[in-house]
Amino acid sequence: MNSYFRAKVLSNTPLNANTFLLILQPVEQVREPVPGQFYMIETGSSYDPLLKRPFSYLRRTPEGIQFLYSIRGKGTRLMRDFQPGKNVQAIGPLGNGYPKAGTRNTPVLIAGGTGVASIFSLAAQLPSKAYILYGARCNEDLILLNEVKELEHRDIVCIDCTDDGSCGMKGTVIDALNELIATDFSRIPSPLLYACGPRPMLESLSQIAREKELKGYVSLEEHMACGFGACLGCTVSTVKGNKRVCKEGPVFPIREIVW
Ligand SMILES: Cc1cc2nc3c(=O)[nH]c(=O)nc-3n(C[C@H](O)[C@H](O)[C@H](O)COP(=O)(O)OP(=O)(O)OC[C@H]3O[C@@H](n4cnc5c(N)ncnc54)[C@H](O)[C@@H]3O)c2cc1C
Ligand code: FES
Repeated sequence: MNSYFRAKVLSNTPLNANTFLLILQPVEQVREPVPGQFYMIETGSSYDPLLKRPFSYLRRTPEGIQFLYSIRGKGTRLMRDFQPGKNVQAIGPLGNGYPKAGTRNTPVLIAGGTGVASIFSLAAQLPSKAYILYGARCNEDLILLNEVKELEHRDIVCIDCTDDGSCGMKGTVIDALNELIATDFSRIPSPLLYACGPRPMLESLSQIAREKELKGYVSLEEHMACGFGACLGCTVSTVKGNKRVCKEGPVFPIREIVW
């Protein structure tokens, strides 16, 4: 089955001043994604911007593929104007998803900002006890808080935090993780970290993972041009040499990245 596909915009709904929920309905057969994979989405039909933009999928439902995106620059500003019925070209699912946790592991999921899209796709599939630490700058930016809290019915402990203290714990997800480590961590069997968010957050997390000898995975959001391994534009340094985020990632073992 081809990774290139055409889709129709089913809806494009603002969730706060800067973040939208986009639902694309493929008009041809597509491969099913696994949590952590992403799609390249065409943002404009002219040459500017020429390149598709990468987005993690949030949910796959019978009606379509859901994405959560924040306005950053030209491409995402064009996406903001997508109207229902618009035809869009996309490529995906791309990259490697999150490796499954072992039966004895307790997944500890950490989401910063729109990194919650990637982490939520994983959380929604977890079979057993897990923790999810979800942080953003302020209350309005915790856009998926209700959906994340609903997971508590399935024995998933949700710890939310905001930089300004307007919701949940005051501080970053790194502060929340340090707090969890200081209090409950010794009672959590074989914690396994899964994280997606801004680069400084992932870098701090990987430092903690090294210091505390924790295992886990990070999903990186590098700039991408092609999305399928051809241009080398998304290369990062790892302890095993240079790797392409779009092809060998976006998910990497947490202690492998050289920041
Ligand atoms: C695998 C992957 C999954 C992603 N998933 C999501 C998602 O689910 N939701 C979401 O909102 N965004 C996600 N992103 C980031 C998203 O691709 C960028 O925000 C988008 O490409 C910006 O396009 P633009 O044309 O609007 O901005 P541009 O005009 O290209 O850039 C505007 C500004 O944003 C910065 N920027 C652009 N891309 C990135 C990036 N990847 N990382 C950090 N800074 C960047 C630029 O340096 C510039 O300052 C993901 C990225 C990757 C690689
Ligand atoms: S974006 Fe081209 S190789 Fe990764």
